[in-house]
Amino acid sequence: MEQVQFSKFKQRLKSQYGLDLELYKEAQIMRRLRGYMQRHQLSGFAELENYIGSSHQATHLIDYLDINVSEFFRHPELFAYLEQEILSRYIGSSHQATHLIDYLDINVSEFFRNPELFTYLEQDVLSRWLTKNPPVRIWSAGCSIGAEPYSLAIAVLEAGFRGLPSIWATDLDAGALQQAKVGQYALQDVRNVTPSRLKKYFDLAGDIVTVKSVLKERLQFARHDLLCDPIKGSFELIVCRNVAIYFTEDAKTAMLKRFAAALANDGILFTGATESYLNYRELGLNRVSSCFYRKEGA
Ligand SMILES: C[S@@+](CC[C@H](N)C(=O)[O-])C[C@H]1O[C@@H](n2cnc3c(N)ncnc32)[C@H](O)[C@@H]1O
Repeated sequence: MEQVQFSKFKQRLKSQYGLDLELYKEAQIMRRLRGYMQRHQLSGFAELENYIGSSHQATHLIDYLDINVSEFFRHPELFAYLEQEILSRYIGSSHQATHLIDYLDINVSEFFRNPELFTYLEQDVLSRWLTKNPPVRIWSAGCSIGAEPYSLAIAVLEAGFRGLPSIWATDLDAGALQQAKVGQYALQDVRNVTPSRLKKYFDLAGDIVTVKSVLKERLQFARHDLLCDPIKGSFELIVCRNVAIYFTEDAKTAMLKRFAAALANDGILFTGATESYLNYRELGLNRVSSCFYRKEGA
């Protein structure tokens, strides 16, 4: 019975809100959903299905987000801003579903996550393209609250490119993208940024840092679902880190196939430190270093 209700719930989520839970690891999703249902005193998937279709007071959502979502909410001034942003997103009957989608997506991120990998990126990858014309195109896929694409922007500005690369930064979660556009972070999020870079690329006020416009100018943000949205253009560098961990093997393989097609010859895919792709060779990719795969030239 529960399985039937779960299937119905999944169908509703997919048809009404475009989120396909079939493509995510079931155990992980189940754990999150059970936590959500418990918190909202919902006894099963039938009630959950009902719940996400009905309209509720937005303040309930805000209270809930305060407990669960990212580090930003610890800062009152940012929280006030995000309250407005989030409230505006919840107008209409789909707001509970949006909330649930946000809850399922874990947005944890920080600048220069796994610094040693970013060192490799800066010294061994970016340095090969400094004189490339037209300039290289970079895609931060699953960019969350922006720490990753802003780190890439810093790396790019520091590298000394003749023509500055463009950086496309995408995520499924509109709320995370909104935070990314604001570009404000807690000091803890920038702990891997060197003091000189911190001074150069951020404004500091109390324990909040804000990225300077020189970084913002490098990025183009867009909402994009890696599991189904078309990929336009080709890229020298695709950075997709700590996103595939939530996907089933099939969904992961399908995504890798799409990345391989979207990479320019000799282009690089930069993955998360704990992610592994088994079938990269079949897709014309070579593992050049831990977490870095290169598309073989034609
Ligand atoms: C843990 S964060 C990783 C952020 C950043 N890449 C990093 O490594 O620090 C995972 C991100 O993947 C996004 N995500 C999950 N499923 C997605 C999908 N189908 N398409 C695009 N983004 C997705 C989530 O919204 C979340 O922001």
